[in-house]
Amino acid sequence: MSVARPTDGVLVDRYGRIARDLRVSLTDKCNLRCTYCMPAEGLPWLAGPELLTDDEVVRLIRVAVQRLGVTEVRFTGGEPLIRPGLTGIVAAVAALDPRPTISLTTNGIGLDRLAPALRAAGLDRVNVSLDTLDPDRFVRLTRRPRLDAVLAGLAGAAAAGLSPVKVNSVLMRGINDDEAPALVRFAVAHGYELRFIEQMPLDAQHGWNRTDMVTADEILASLRRAFDLRADPAERGSAPAETWLVDGGPARVGVIGSVTRPFCGDCDRTRLTADGQVRACLFATEESDLRGALRTGVDDDGLAERWRSAMWGKRAGHGIDDPTFLQPTRPMSAIGG
Ligand code: GTP
Ligand code: 5AD
Ligand code: SF4
Repeated sequence: MSVARPTDGVLVDRYGRIARDLRVSLTDKCNLRCTYCMPAEGLPWLAGPELLTDDEVVRLIRVAVQRLGVTEVRFTGGEPLIRPGLTGIVAAVAALDPRPTISLTTNGIGLDRLAPALRAAGLDRVNVSLDTLDPDRFVRLTRRPRLDAVLAGLAGAAAAGLSPVKVNSVLMRGINDDEAPALVRFAVAHGYELRFIEQMPLDAQHGWNRTDMVTADEILASLRRAFDLRADPAERGSAPAETWLVDGGPARVGVIGSVTRPFCGDCDRTRLTADGQVRACLFATEESDLRGALRTGVDDDGLAERWRSAMWGKRAGHGIDDPTFLQPTRPMSAIGG
């Protein structure tokens, strides 16, 4: 028996999952060139007129929060700190009723300078990417000598009262896969919550292969050689990260095993790209054009209805293990992770 799609209310899919967590990419540009994400020369960026304006971004978020039941808004990129209107967008979203929680996923460059204004505008928390503590490895991984800027950004975020400060690390075989315990010690010492992420097939160069990926099991084995890990008693909910208490806690470490330990069955995410396309899944091969609808005068009810329709078609899972798996044409940097 097929189930009919509701034409009002929340973003539900045919498997009964409800999307309450909206991830908004504000730009596809970035000031780093992480090898697992982008080629050295960068990518053909979206043209100015293709990007949603600040007002358009806020309008779509308002539709999501007030008509579609979204309770959490996360800004991503590319690198969201390079979007000129970021602070104003955060302030406008913080003024919505009901107010969603507001977070940001960033590479941390410039965050020391921007964190106080973002905090004042209503940003609640940040996740910062940091794969290594070694300056030479940092250059090898990101192709830019900016480790100090990232470390300053992390410290600035904590000093500004953003909490929790989470750190995302991708381990690359033969480059930084020996660094998991050192990264944990660093995070524990500073009060940051560290999560290791399995590398996903989302790089623009299509260079991912399974044997190069450092798996959740490998990460955990490396951590267990250095620490006592106990399953975190806290409820996981729909979070991508599985967490463990480090040496009895309260410090925690997480592993986001998107490939070998998929969590699609509990997914509560919907995505909006910088050019106004709804993606039901990180790995979706179809998108739904809200920018075109908005610019041809569709009203808020109509936009909400298109968004519901896009989410209803969300697939059960990413299907990376299926022989028919196709990597999406839009790369990670233009989706926002
Ligand atoms: P928190 O609410 O702070 O735990 O955020 P998060 O971990 O969901 O967000 P973040 O932007 O820090 O992403 C960390 C990693 O999780 C990135 O590599 C994301 O691509 C990945 N991730 C986030 N959401 C999903 C998802 O729905 N599916 C998959 N496969 N990966 C995701
Ligand atoms: N696989 C897994 N994580 C990735 N990130 C970027 N590209 C990939 C990939 N191919 C991470 C970044 C950032 C987060 C948004 O996603 O390091 O922390
Ligand atoms: Fe959700 Fe898709 Fe991520 Fe699975 S891969 S958790 S369905 S966004």
